[in-house]
Amino acid sequence: MIPIAKPLIGEEEIEEVEKVLKSGFIAQGPKVAEFEEEFASYVGTEHAIAVSSGTTALHLALLSAGVGKGDEVITTPFSFAATSNCALYVDAKPVFVDIDLKTFNLNPELIEGAITEKTKAIIPVHLYGQPAQMDRIKQIAKEHDLRVIEDAAQAHGAMIKDKMVGSMGDMACFSFYPTKNMTTSEGGMITTNNSHMADMARILRAHGEKERYKHEILGYNFRMTDISASIGLVQLKKLDGFNQKRIENAEYLKEHIKGLTGIKPPYVSPKVKHVFHQYTVRVKEGKRNALMEYLNQEGIGTGIHYPIPIYKQKLYQDRGYDDNWPETEKAALEVLSLPVHPGLTIEELEKIAISLEAASENLFE
Ligand SMILES: Cc1ncc(COP(=O)(O)O)c(C=O)c1O
Repeated sequence: MIPIAKPLIGEEEIEEVEKVLKSGFIAQGPKVAEFEEEFASYVGTEHAIAVSSGTTALHLALLSAGVGKGDEVITTPFSFAATSNCALYVDAKPVFVDIDLKTFNLNPELIEGAITEKTKAIIPVHLYGQPAQMDRIKQIAKEHDLRVIEDAAQAHGAMIKDKMVGSMGDMACFSFYPTKNMTTSEGGMITTNNSHMADMARILRAHGEKERYKHEILGYNFRMTDISASIGLVQLKKLDGFNQKRIENAEYLKEHIKGLTGIKPPYVSPKVKHVFHQYTVRVKEGKRNALMEYLNQEGIGTGIHYPIPIYKQKLYQDRGYDDNWPETEKAALEVLSLPVHPGLTIEELEKIAISLEAASENLFE
């Protein structure tokens, strides 16, 4: 089976982990500090705060941005549930607006219609590795005095012109889960240029302690370990190479898909560097699951990101959500992610291309 995702861990990562294990410093220590410094420098922000996951990064970012009980947070319903669940963690209310089906990202033109006096923040997601329309989103946020928290969990190294994803919002959150463009096993990072928010995130990450055993606010244990950070330091050096390979694989797939009936390759905005966390095609209505089954039988792993809009999840239905955004609904029925990870061989890419061609002829014509 050609897997839909595969972490690429080499001897260097193993050696660094071994060094940390032998050092005796295996919880948060010098390697986490070094990883934060390197990551901030890569993204181009003053601060980076390493945490235990992308989810805890989002949770702390909302708390650090002052989002809390009764506040509303505008976000996309077409994402992994962590994007909006973080608002629930802080007793705020996620408010969903539709995506633009072309890019699968939040449609900025719908944001203003959702703003109320309770709105406190906007969380755009750079879905599949393609940056959201940050200029427009930031402009709206400025006019309405809202915080912008980028969910960059899928977009390490993505850019809008010469600006890195993670450097454009008030804060940004990355995930280092093994399927992501770089990994630390589990792990996450917050980036920001706001010193106050950075301090808050650091304090909240470790039980609200400014000084040892002095707890002024309710904090958590959301720390990253030096074991994870040592993997992250090596992976960060490899990130641009991994992304380049993803981009080349995406280009190969596009060349082979563009003439096929029933399968539409992803749109890439000319202003951005898309880092293809996922290579997600749209499949002719009603045929997505058939294509998925066909490819799986051929030994090609696929993914549906995401089959259920967040507002239709039971968790949200139980909270009274009854949204029904048309572009999100259509995307949930049509999307199919194909393998694009940097571990793919040319033989595997060829197999994917040949199978897509055969599927298109058998299923759609
Ligand atoms: C868009 C998005 N946001 C948040 C997360 C949460 O990250 P993690 O799995 O590291 O908690 C993920 C990862 O699965 C994600 O894809």
